[in-house]
Amino acid sequence: MKKLNVSAFVAMALFMVLVFPAAAQETYDKAVVVQVMRGNVATLGQVKAALNKGDFYAAAEGFWKFAEGQNKIMQYTPPKGSKAEWDRVLGEFVSTALRGVGASGEKDAAKGLAIVEELQKLNKTGHTLFK
Ligand code: HEM
Repeated sequence: MKKLNVSAFVAMALFMVLVFPAAAQETYDKAVVVQVMRGNVATLGQVKAALNKGDFYAAAEGFWKFAEGQNKIMQYTPPKGSKAEWDRVLGEFVSTALRGVGASGEKDAAKGLAIVEELQKLNKTGHTLFK
């Protein structure tokens, strides 16, 4: 009887180890998402102002913050909408933001501002699908 309990415990532990790490990583963390979103609002202002005054270092920093934040939340499964769409929209957001870093490196304000518009379109798409 005791032996059976040990086997059952081992089987259960193995099951938890195999199944839960993957699930735990994808549990939606609302506090983190809200923090990233509030950061996005500040970053949007920072990037636009920086591009408009030709401060390309600050613009690149902002674009990078956009990429970092959305890359961080990509691990989650959204409470509303599909995980595949979440990965697609956030993946596109991250690559678009990285193109913004490139445009900042080229000191091309018009290109950078056009990329900000693309990010705002993805923002709308994201909120329609997941918020
Ligand atoms: C420039 C880009 C973006 C800005 C400025 C922005 C801004 C915001 C703001 C202000 C909130 C409300 C936060 C609060 O409760 O105080 C929010 C929530 C949210 N946003 Fe965004 N967002 C952006 C991009 C995105 C993208 C790309 C996605 C998804 C693909 C997304 C998904 C969400 C979700 C799911 C929430 C709800 C969070 C929750 O309460 O659980 N956002 N966003």
